Amino acid sequence: MTPVISVAHLSKTYASGFQALKDINLEIRHGEIFALLGPNGAGKTTLIGIICGIVNPSSGSIAVDGHDVIADYRVTRSLIGLVPQELATDIFSSVWGTVSFSRGLFGKPAHPAYIQKVLQDLSLWDKKDHRIATLSGGMKRRLMIAKALAHEPRILFLDEPTAGVDVELRKDMWEMVRALRASGVTIILTTHYIEEAEQMADRVGVIHKGELILVENKAELMRKLGQKQLTLELREPIAAVPPALARHRLVLVDGGSKLVYTYDTQAEHIGITGLIDDLHLAGLRFKDLFTTERSLEEIFVGLVTERR
Ligand SMILES: Nc1ncnc2c1ncn2[C@@H]1O[C@H](COP(=O)(O)OP(=O)(O)O)[C@@H](O)[C@H]1O
Ligand SMILES: [Mg+2]
Repeated sequence: MTPVISVAHLSKTYASGFQALKDINLEIRHGEIFALLGPNGAGKTTLIGIICGIVNPSSGSIAVDGHDVIADYRVTRSLIGLVPQELATDIFSSVWGTVSFSRGLFGKPAHPAYIQKVLQDLSLWDKKDHRIATLSGGMKRRLMIAKALAHEPRILFLDEPTAGVDVELRKDMWEMVRALRASGVTIILTTHYIEEAEQMADRVGVIHKGELILVENKAELMRKLGQKQLTLELREPIAAVPPALARHRLVLVDGGSKLVYTYDTQAEHIGITGLIDDLHLAGLRFKDLFTTERSLEEIFVGLVTERR
């Protein structure tokens, strides 16, 4: 099946000279939930902005449902609903008014029954005549989603949908995303929470410093994220890892006083027993040991260096 979004050799350098995206290649499949995972400043919002036709690419090409996002902007934009990271500011209009207006912007005929359903699904129906200025932060966020859905888009972008959102709204949002997917809508969300990518996505793309460093089915990525490290503090420092221990791929740190073993918590055999036996056979004694989980930052750095 042809991808619903296809990004080829996309780079973006802002007017400031800062390169926010570097040779991004990505295909989004019809009907999937795709999570773009990366730390702040990675380039997630820039990438979304370019696909939505709001930000100009410096080079590369982007097609949505086979249409070029620049040449066929009106077509591609009407296929997309965008829930931006920032909250709405048109505080003077009512909930009903702003959502209906959004639909009209895309040239769709009025459809009050549909708008009503969207507002009901988002628990906004009883607020339909309220002014936006009177809504709570959570309600404003629901409203942003209603606006994005007003013109019945086939693709929905959610940029950091749950950053600073309470638990109830987060649950509602996830339910809504699943229901939309069930109706055939393709969903792309950005997040810097591993947990969110894990709960929601079919596939995950990891973006770091403007580079898309991997795109993986969720299960495979979670295996990589499940790595832990065991640090052994040696009684006597050593100059090098003894060859007899090569198979454990240990890393010697802190001037030869510590050995670090990285293992996969989800693997059937994590290898610690064998490691301890081999250490004993090699005559190495340790005075302390502790385990640490790899931080997201370490994982990103690890993935980047693995590629080089
Ligand atoms: N209009 C702009 N001009 C210059 N630099 C920008 C602009 N917008 C974003 N950036 C920079 O590009 C990088 C990526 O930003 P962004 O796409 O917002 O990342 P993310 O959404 O992953 O946090 C950041 O370093 C940011 O400071
Ligand atoms: Mg962002």
